[in-house]
Parts: sequence; structure tokens; C-alpha cells
Amino acid sequence: MSHPIIKDLNTRYTAKKYDASKRISAEDMEVIKEALRLSASSINSQPWKFVIVESDEAKQRFHDTFENMHQFNQPHAKAASHTILFAHDPEFTKEKFAKRVDAEVSSGHLPADMYDMFMGAYAFAEANTDENGFNGTWTKAQVYIALGNILHTLARLGIDSTPMEGVDAKLIGEKFADELEGHVCDVALAIGYHEEGEDYNHGLPKARLAQDHVVTVA
Ligand SMILES: Cc1cc2nc3c(=O)[nH]c(=O)nc-3n(C[C@H](O)[C@H](O)[C@H](O)COP(=O)(O)O)c2cc1C
Repeated sequence: MSHPIIKDLNTRYTAKKYDASKRISAEDMEVIKEALRLSASSINSQPWKFVIVESDEAKQRFHDTFENMHQFNQPHAKAASHTILFAHDPEFTKEKFAKRVDAEVSSGHLPADMYDMFMGAYAFAEANTDENGFNGTWTKAQVYIALGNILHTLARLGIDSTPMEGVDAKLIGEKFADELEGHVCDVALAIGYHEEGEDYNHGLPKARLAQDHVVTVA
């Protein structure tokens, strides 16, 4: 299929080795940040924080979070141009949701007299909140929408990436406590440019189940 979307999805892949000398331009980083911000989420909750690891100091901190586990992902911490920490809010409260509804009104998306009606949508969050106020399973699901969105954005920009659930959420929480502000990072995304001739995963065909195995038209 020659559609540009299908071309994007066929050419993007999980990079296994980065060229440490190549950096993403400031212009492309702005596109990436804006694409993150524009990601969709249930009831427009946006229960997330995206921490962009860019400086050498932050890269060293991220590198050090692999001290106890998942060392196979550790080289990306310094060799990739950037890493994005995708973090969810484990306690997304009604007060926090009200800030989003404020933005609904101030942006002109929601008429002011519908404010209370929109607040009622918090019932979706409540239905996913336990007796301790934890709704991290639901908010983490929202973060993966942003991850999928950015994978395609990167493909379109010709930037390579590596999604990583192989990260240590506890150590990231400790070493990036200031940036995370209570959010939890269970998944990160290294981004940059693969090292020519050194990345065994580059240029291989896609390995996916057949379309009729995963898509059913009823
Ligand atoms: C949520 C998620 C977590 C992943 N975690 C890792 C990881 O920790 N390390 C890694 O090398 N690849 C990781 N991958 C890459 C997958 O193995 C890869 O996406 C899959 O095999 C499909 O291959 P492709 O991305 O090259 O199309 C992850 C992918 C996703 C979507």
C-alpha cells in the first residue's frame, strides 16, 4: 500500500543503537513538544507530564536509573538525542480536572454556561478511582495515547525512536522527583538517529499478524 500514512508506519521501527553524534534540531523538538501537548485523552483529562531529558546532566541521571534493571536499554540514555519520560498522575482529582475545564472555557471550546455539565464528566475518572484515590491504571492508559501519537509524529519527521517499558519507575521517580511533581513514569521514549550499519533492527520488514487476524469488519 503506497499511502503516506502506511509508509510512515512501515518505516518507523524500534531503534536499537543510536548515533551519539546526531542531535534533533530545535525546530523538530518544538514540533514534538506541541504534538505531545495536542494528544487526546479521555474527558480531555490530560493527566500527564512529559519530561524531556536533554542536558548531559539529565542524561547522566537517566543513565543512572538503569543501575538495578533493564540494562539493555541503558546505552540509549546517553547515545540518543533526547529521551521523553511519559508520566501519569496516579491521583487525578476533581480539583485537577477543574483546571482542564477552565481551559475548555478560556480556549473558546466550551460555552461558560456548560461548565458544570462538563465537570460531570469527571464521573469517568471516579469510576476508575479506588477507595484510596488511586486512578493510575486509567491515567496510565491516557499516557499511552500520547506515546502512540508521538511515534507517528516522529516517523513523519524522519526521527528514530525506542519505546521503553524496560525502565525503573522507582529510580526515575527518585532521580526526577523535581520534574515529575508526583507523576509516575512507567514508559520512556528514546529519540534520535540510528547508527548506520550498527543497528540490527534497521531496515527489517514489519513482523505483524495478518490483517484479517486482528481486524474484523462486522
Ligand atoms: C509500550 C512499549 C514498550 C516497549 N519496550 C521496549 C523496551 O523496553 N526495549 C526495547 O528495545 N523495545 C521495546 N519496545 C519495542 C517493541 O518490542 C517493538 O515496538 C515491537 O517489537 C514492534 O517492532 P517495531 O517497533 O520495530 O515495529 C516497546 C514497545 C512498546 C510499544
